[in-house]
Parts: sequence; structure tokens; C-alpha cells
Amino acid sequence: MNTKSQLAQLGLFDARVPRYTSYPTAPQFSGAVGPQDFRDWLGTIAPGDEISLYLHVPFCRRLCWFCACRTQGTSSESPVLAYVETLKAELAMLRAALPEGVTLSRLHWGGGTPTLMPADAMRDLAAAIFAVTPLAKNAEFSVEIDPNEIDGARLDALAEAGMNRASIGVQDFDPDIQEIIGREQSYEVTRAAVKAIRARGVHSLNADILFGLPYQTKERLSDSVQKLLSLSPDRVALYGYAHVPWMARRQQMIPSDTLPRPEERLALFETANQLFSWDGYVDIGIDHFARPDDGLAVAAKNGTLRRNFQGYTDDRSEVLVGLGASSISRFPQGYAQMNSATSAWGKAVQSGEFAIKRGHAFTGQDRLRAQIIEGLMCDFTVSTEALLRDYDVTRADLDAMFAPVAETFQNFVSHTSEGLEIPTEGRALTRMIAARFDAYAMERASHSSAI
Ligand SMILES: C[S@@+](CC[C@H](N)C(=O)[O-])C[C@H]1O[C@@H](n2cnc3c(N)ncnc32)[C@H](O)[C@@H]1O
Ligand code: SF4
Repeated sequence: MNTKSQLAQLGLFDARVPRYTSYPTAPQFSGAVGPQDFRDWLGTIAPGDEISLYLHVPFCRRLCWFCACRTQGTSSESPVLAYVETLKAELAMLRAALPEGVTLSRLHWGGGTPTLMPADAMRDLAAAIFAVTPLAKNAEFSVEIDPNEIDGARLDALAEAGMNRASIGVQDFDPDIQEIIGREQSYEVTRAAVKAIRARGVHSLNADILFGLPYQTKERLSDSVQKLLSLSPDRVALYGYAHVPWMARRQQMIPSDTLPRPEERLALFETANQLFSWDGYVDIGIDHFARPDDGLAVAAKNGTLRRNFQGYTDDRSEVLVGLGASSISRFPQGYAQMNSATSAWGKAVQSGEFAIKRGHAFTGQDRLRAQIIEGLMCDFTVSTEALLRDYDVTRADLDAMFAPVAETFQNFVSHTSEGLEIPTEGRALTRMIAARFDAYAMERASHSSAI
């Protein structure tokens, strides 16, 4: 059997598997975690600790058809300004709940489109954040920037506030593809945004591009990747386009029969992967590429790469606090998510309460499985010795978990006394292999096969 048929047999081309930016994944969250847990967990942060902060801005001026993110369209500034005021109230609540002397190792503004905020609102919001907790030494402050939705005044405000990493959405440069995915953005617009970002001394640049888009061929994707390389990003996220029109209704605008077949998706990924490698980028985990001196590449080399809701990170903080509608916080105790409905989130904050709607408190099993899944997603390895050191398990317990996975995935997984490893040939299957350690997914699968 050739490799492609083996991959097909193992479900690569028909599986819908999570990207494991958390374990358990967000669909497993329940109402068992509420505002008081969030306050309690904030209260366990040690005075003077470094934490990370994520701020979510769920608005966009344009609603790109391909986009699966939860975001609301707005043509006016007023909902954005009202939202910023509520974020400031939420920050004041955070200030009251946090211990003294906490600083930020990472600050990230994501969305949606945070650059919809006018320059003055950006300054205001940054001042409100730094009144709660200042940036730590060598902190990273990153912002998601839509190249169509940025200008000099807003970039000045972001640079003055300390932004030192910009993340731009590219998706694809091909005009036909841009038209069919409802996201028009010329190469010139993107290049001008990159130039303006760099002119303000922001040297770290991330870019998102997609493979598996309608009409995409190896030639078209190569052309887009080469255009992107001409902008010299430090990091690239090469995501597989997720076509989920039953969840993201606007994707119904994209005819399913224009999408590449699953086997073609693998070829597209490999084409882009090769171009990044030839240009000196290091591949990171399942879908990122970085210049060898970039923090992600260094973390991957040192074995300190982590996974969080933004994907791969070199952030070492144990606590990530998320503010804004739908944002998710991570604590050593568990996950807590804000209400996704902007109005309900706003009402809770106005009444003086955090809008935590759901979450998950970790069990011992969750922690063990989370470490295995994170190890596979970040380093393609799991060390038996590390698990024996960190958890109350025996070698026999771990062998009983690893052996059936190695049995299923054969030459794509190696199981030795040292642990589990995914060799290069098996990396396309990483999410599927990780899913075999997801107790909730396994339970769902056994339940659905029983009915
Ligand atoms: C929340 S968006 C923010 C980007 C910013 N608003 C912009 O448009 O430039 C972050 C990224 O999610 C990715 N994304 C959105 N929808 C996706 C989908 N259906 N499949 C895969 N990736 C997707 C895109 O690459 C996008 O740049
Ligand atoms: S890709 Fe960006 S601008 Fe487009 S809808 Fe998604 S979040 Fe909004």
C-alpha cells in the first residue's frame, strides 16, 4: 500500500479533528464553571507573577465569506466605542481581583478586527490595561491587523502603546480566489501595510495564509507563497481552510464543489511547506513556519514550545486571562470562557460581574492527557520519563495508553521504552493521533457507534 492510501485508511482525508489549542477542547466546556471560580482562580496568582492577557474585539467592517471566526459586522464606530468602554470596566474589575505587582509577559489584541478601533480608543484602552498591570521586561505586545483596516494614525497609536509584534491576515493573493472567498485585498495593500508597520519600528511580523481554498492549485498557491515571502514575515501560520457552512453560515456563499479534494489539500500543504523550507524557514508543529531566530523557532528547538488559543506560542506563563465577549482564560485549575453574546457579556460587566458562562475544571486525568496531546502537537514526542515524574501513573499504565495507538498508526508512530514519537512521515496525522488521547472524543465516538 502506498503512503497516500495508508493515510487515507487512517482517516486523514475525511477526519474532522480539533486543532487542540486546548484540552479539553471548548465544546467540552460546561456551565459548571462560573464567575466565582474565575475570581477564585485569579486570586491564586502569586503577587508579582507574570501573566498573559488576551483582549477580544468581535467586530469587523467586512464579513469575509471564508471566515469561521465569531464576529459581528458593523459599518459604524459606535458599537466599537461602546465595547471599548465595557472592556475598560472589565479591566477595572480585573484590577480589583488581581494580586499586587502582577505584570504582563504577553498582551494580545485579537478578533474580529481590533484595528477597527479608532486611534484614540486604542490609546485609551492601552492606558486602561497598563493601569491594571504593566508590561513585563521583554514582554510581547501583539495585535491582529487587517491590512484593509489600518492607517498611519492607528499604527502610530499602537506603536506608541508598545506593540512589538503585528499579525496580518493575508489568506491568498490570487484575485480569483479572493473573489470567491469574499476577501479582496491586493498585494499592494498588504505590502503597504507591512511597510507602514515596519516603519514604526515593529520588526516582528506574523502572517496567516490558507491552503485548501476554492480554485487553489499548486501553481496558484506557490505564487501566493512567493509573494508572501517577498514581504519577509518572521512567522507564518499556514492553516487548512475549514469549510463548515453549517456553523459559519456565510461560508454558504462558497460553493463546495470549488474546493480542492482532500488528497489535493495534502499536496497543497506540501507545496507551501517546501517553499518555506527552501527560503530558510523552520517548520513548527503542524502548521507554522518561522525564521530560525524567531522566538517560536527557538522554543521549538529547546523543547519549550506551547499550545494556546492563539495556536503555537513561546509564552511560558501559567495564566492567560481573556477579556471581552467569548474570550477564554486558562489557569492551572482550568478554563473559563466569557459569554459569547456581546450584549449579555456587556450586561454582566455593567452589573459588576465577570461574564463567565462556561468552562472546565481540570481533573488529574485531564492534566495527563493534556500534556500528552500538547507534546504531540508541539514536539511530535511524548516522554514516558517526564510523565512518570509529573503524574501518578506507572509505566504499565502509559504502555497501555500508547500501545493501541502505535498498533493503529503502525509506521506513522513509534512506541519505545522512551515514549511515543511521530516520525516525519506521520506528521500529517498528528491531530488524528492526538485525538486518540482525547478521552471526551473517544467517549463520543464509542457512544455514537453504539447507536
Ligand atoms: C480571527 S482572524 C483575524 C484576522 C483579521 N481580522 C484579518 O482579517 O486580517 C484570524 C485568522 O483565522 C483564520 N481563519 C478564519 N477563518 C478560517 C477558516 N474557515 N479556516 C481556517 N482558518 C481560518 C484566518 O487565517 C485569519 O487570518
Ligand atoms: S477574516 Fe478577519 S476581517 Fe474577515 S471576517 Fe474574519 S475576522 Fe473579520
